[in-house]
Amino acid sequence: MYAEKILSGMRPTGRLHLGHYHGVLANWVKLQHEYPCLFFVADWHALTTSYDETETIAQSTWDMVIDWLAAGVDPAQATLFIQSRVPEHAELHLLLSMTTPLGWLERVPTYKEQQEKLNHKDLTTYGFLGYPLLQAADILIYRANRVPVGEDQIPHLEFAREIARRFNHMYGREPGFEEKARDSIKKLGSKRAKLYEELRNRYQEKGDDDALEQAHALLNEAQSLALGDRERLFGYLEGSGKMILVEPEAMLTDAARSPGLDGQKMSKSYGNTIALREDVESVRKKIRTMQTDPQRVRRTDAGDPAKCPVWQFHEIYSGDEIKNWVQQGCRSAGIGCIECKQPIIDAVLAEQEPMRERARMYEEDPQLVRNIIADGCEKARKLAQETMRDVREAIGLHYL
Ligand code: TRP
Ligand code: SF4
Repeated sequence: MYAEKILSGMRPTGRLHLGHYHGVLANWVKLQHEYPCLFFVADWHALTTSYDETETIAQSTWDMVIDWLAAGVDPAQATLFIQSRVPEHAELHLLLSMTTPLGWLERVPTYKEQQEKLNHKDLTTYGFLGYPLLQAADILIYRANRVPVGEDQIPHLEFAREIARRFNHMYGREPGFEEKARDSIKKLGSKRAKLYEELRNRYQEKGDDDALEQAHALLNEAQSLALGDRERLFGYLEGSGKMILVEPEAMLTDAARSPGLDGQKMSKSYGNTIALREDVESVRKKIRTMQTDPQRVRRTDAGDPAKCPVWQFHEIYSGDEIKNWVQQGCRSAGIGCIECKQPIIDAVLAEQEPMRERARMYEEDPQLVRNIIADGCEKARKLAQETMRDVREAIGLHYL
């Protein structure tokens, strides 16, 4: 139940670009083979800042999901769903809101930052303040222990950890916990029980993280253990209460900055993007007309790759041989800029080819995408409902 599990979400921004691919999606594609993964469209999150422009959310969602699939996110490996189609997120958000101090929310750095940045908008709303709590609910409801995110999301993850800790502390306590924990240990069987105690001592006395990890594995393997016993034993390893919600860890996505066509970071707001599903002619044109070293005005002028946005693309797409050819050819005016760009055009088109291929199927038959999402929502919902059962029970809202 508390085995490794990955969850990540994206706001529905519409069609994605190569920056998203290199920064996020390529990592998702890799992770889906290594762990159980849940990836979702954070459509409620879009409302926290765009509550007055909702007409594009649905289309943006479908476009984005097609891009995920085009990039190679595989619905047979990962569960893909839409946040608002798993209403349990909202229930957990509400319940957690009861114990969340306002000060914790006000102190999340993005709160003030975003308010200042988006100052044309009234963001003094309840929903906007609660954004990190909704994100915490997104994560905690799946007991996901790893969350791949960019650096900007680290404070949100830290916040989610605090929320989980507070919840466990407040509702994980039960009368006679120690005694019950000892009874639960007995149910492991004598061999496992002994190992559990050893590992627990090693962790508690020496802070040995290895021991903690081994103990988690041991509990995960003890299939016959009842839910209540399991929560208690997870909690007993680290403290004095049940562990109902799991503290998630951020998995920092390698911030390999994806360059845009102008040398700045690739971003929709800079208008310097190549879309994942950009058509072939448009890719050629965009790269051919890319800025180069401004000092290299004539073909006979020598240039400096360090001052050229095209070089940043070579750093990503080219091997040593081509890179040497660029360095020498540029500095000696031995090659022209159009020549220099050709390997980039070829590499980008080659990278996109399988994506275009995969996307075609979904563009032609949108029902396929609907079905994938319906399937994913159903799976996600089952998991969410399991957690909610435990959460309600821990709080005392189980009317038997
Ligand atoms: N806040 C994230 C972003 O803006 C999106 C998000 C919402 C998310 N819920 C999440 C990411 C849960 C990871 C886990 O990028
Ligand atoms: Fe840039 Fe290549 Fe032209 Fe040099 S030759 S300025 S690296 S495009």
